[in-house]
Formats: sequence, C-alpha cells, structure tokens
Amino acid sequence: MNSFAFFNPTKLIFGKGELAKLSEEVAVYGKNVLLVYGGGSIKRNGLYDKVLSELAKIDANVVELSGVEPNPRLTTAEKGIALCKENNVDFVLAVGGGSVIDCAKLIIAGAKYEGDAWDLVTKKAFASEALPLGTVLTLAATGSEMNAGSVITNWETQEKYGWGSPVTFPKFSILDPEHTYSVPKDHTTYGIVDMMSHVFEQYFHNATNTPLQDRMCESLLVTVMEAAPKLQEDLTNYELRETILFSGTIALNGMLQMGYRGDWASHNIEHAVSAVYDIPHAGGLAILFPNWMKHTLKTNPARFAQLAERVFNVDPVGKTTEEIALEGIEQLRMFWTSIGAPSRLADYDITDEKIKLMADKAMANGPFGNFQSLHKEDVEAILRASL
Ligand code: NZQ
Ligand code: ZN
Repeated sequence: MNSFAFFNPTKLIFGKGELAKLSEEVAVYGKNVLLVYGGGSIKRNGLYDKVLSELAKIDANVVELSGVEPNPRLTTAEKGIALCKENNVDFVLAVGGGSVIDCAKLIIAGAKYEGDAWDLVTKKAFASEALPLGTVLTLAATGSEMNAGSVITNWETQEKYGWGSPVTFPKFSILDPEHTYSVPKDHTTYGIVDMMSHVFEQYFHNATNTPLQDRMCESLLVTVMEAAPKLQEDLTNYELRETILFSGTIALNGMLQMGYRGDWASHNIEHAVSAVYDIPHAGGLAILFPNWMKHTLKTNPARFAQLAERVFNVDPVGKTTEEIALEGIEQLRMFWTSIGAPSRLADYDITDEKIKLMADKAMANGPFGNFQSLHKEDVEAILRASL
C-alpha cells in the first residue's frame, strides 16, 4: 500500500422513507434554497411534490433551476450561479442523478467565485469556498452523492472534464431505494455499468499488498453482478434496488481507493467521446473498458487473471495467465451485453471519422492513466478497437 489520508465528510442518510429527514437537514443551513433538478422525471414520479412539502415545513423560500441535462452543461450551471447571486441563496438542494448533482457542485463553487466558472472545471482556479449542498439521489450510478467530483461539459468547445475540491462534497445525501423505482431499464443498466467501471478503475493500480482492497472491489463486483439481471426483470424490487443503490455509493466514495491511485484512463477517454457525441457516460464505458483491458493486459496479466478467476469464475486449469485474463475480459463483455449495454461505438452511429479529434481531446492534459500511461497512439488504438 501507499501512504494515504481518507476524508469523506458527507452524511449518508439511507433507507425507506428517509426523505422525512430533509427539512431538519436543510434547516441547519438556511431558508433561501435553490432546488436543482433535471428534465422532469421527479415531477412524473411524485418526488418533486414530496420535496416541496418537506421544504414548506421550514418555510423555505425556494428558487428553482430545472432542465439540467444528462452530461450537464456549463451554461446550465451558470444559470444556477446567477440565481444564487440574485436570490441570496443559502443552500443548494440537488434532486436527481449524477448530472444534477454534478451541475449543483459547480453552482455552489461558482456562487462563491468571482471569475468564470469554467476556470474551476479547467483547474485554472481552485474552489476554496462553496455554498452548502444537499442531495436527494434518484439514480444509482456515479457516486457523486458521496464524493467531491463533478463532470461538466462545455458544449461550445466540446470539452468535458472532471474537477472537484474538498468544499464540493455534499453536506448530506438522502438515498431511498424507492426513489429509483422509476429509473427505466436502459438507465438502470448504465448505472450498473458505471459503478462496475468505477471499481475497475480502482482495481487496476501499481501498488503492492492490497489484499483487503482487492477483496472489497471483487465483492462489490460479485454483489452487483448477482443483483443486476434479477433487477432487470423486476425494476421495483426493493431489496435489489437497495443493493444496487448502496453499491453505487460505495464504489466511488473513496473507500475502495485507500492506499493506491486508481487508473481512470477509461473514464478520461469516455469523457472525450461524450464531449464530441453526447452519448450516455456508461454507454461509452461499456464499449471502451474491455478494449482498454485488452490494450493494457500485458502491464500486469496476473492482476487480470485474478479478476477473471475471483469474479468471473474462469477455470484456470491448463491455461496461461494471459488466456485466463482474456477469458475474464470476454466474460465481462458478455455480462454487459446480457444486461443490455452497448458493445461498439457503431451502436451510437460513431464511425472512424472523429477518432483523431476524440484522441486529441483525451490528450488535452498529456499522457494519462496510473496503471499504464496512455499516449495518443494508445487512445487511437483503443477507440479503433471499439468501432
Ligand atoms: O433529467 P431527468 O428527467 O431527471 O432524467 C434522468 C436522465 O434522463 C433520468 N433519471 C434520473 N433519475 C430517474 C430518472 N428517470 C426516471 N426515474 C428516476 N428516478 O436518467 C437520465 C440520466 O440521468 P443522469 O443524471 O445523467 O445519469 P447519471 O447518474 O448516470 O449521471 C451521468 C453523469 O455523471 C458523470 C457522467 O460523466 C455524466 O455526465 N459522472 C460523474 C461522476 C462523479 N461526479 O463522481 C463520476 C462518473 O464516472 C461520471 O463521469
Ligand atoms: Zn463513471
């Protein structure tokens, strides 16, 4: 293990009916509330009304920012920042999936920053101050509800970057599995692919002696893979939604990454793809990740073989380490296909036309990837293998 410090200040409030705690949690921070949400799912499933009646209990003055897009855009966060400044907002409440929460994170930091909010995303400036943020999560996927990260797209320049600071952790997040009942099959699958990808990003590292972290990652993967196909057939099963919701949070709240740096190259490439084509984040990951695995396998075949044996039950007898590893990657591809995830860029009508552009965008900050450092030719090869 490498030396590490673990810091996670988000209060996680998990379980059926826990929305009833919203008013007391918000009351700590003030009455002028900016409510941020997406394209309307919370109105259709009734959560919007429940949130407003909770806020009414503390006589909150509520200002709204609706219409946050999947792959949230800088321009939308800028609207939220202006609303905070105009209305003297004390507290921002995000109700939605990762996109809504990520947008709210830029709003809380941008509201306390005098310059251009894009400076915070591009790391020209560091967010040292922010308004307090609370979340009510409606989709199990990103882990944004319990981490400081935010991913924002500048659609004008076709750039999508992750950023964050210790001040962008939510103060609290309320997670009720019932709030995820209405997530349709496709987005349920994307969420599952995303949380599994977060585990893979952290599983592939170059530190030694991480037996507990390995088992934590593997057990999260096995748990999710057990629940996922059942959930696809029974979208309002409380226990399955509960398992998946909890898994999504644990997959990216920092716990799995103690003692090493994860790889994160596949996420970087995916962000470049969705900056150009605006595809769902985890749709891109499902396509790219197995190809990244094949590309980097030689860096540490034994690690891939360990994953294959422990998670995908590959029988090692009579096979080389590389054969075991490759079989595991194939099993992963088959599993994702079985739950309805895409496997080729062609599934999104993406051809080889913009490979160079996407590779350039991925390389914006130079070579990347902590397990294996990728250069432009590596990124192009992974994208070509994904066509
Ligand atoms: O906009 P609404 O109407 O709410 O609909 C959303 C959206 O269309 C819908 N949805 C959410 N909850 C629902 C629901 N529909 C019915 N019932 C519900 N309960 O689902 C669609 C997708 O929502 P979105 O928030 O975009 O999905 P997700 O949570 O997967 O977030 C994706 C974004 O997060 C970023 C991605 O890059 C992408 O921009 N990421 C953020 C990370 C982080 N902050 O740590 C890490 C991730 O790796 C990821 O990069
Ligand atoms: Zn992700």
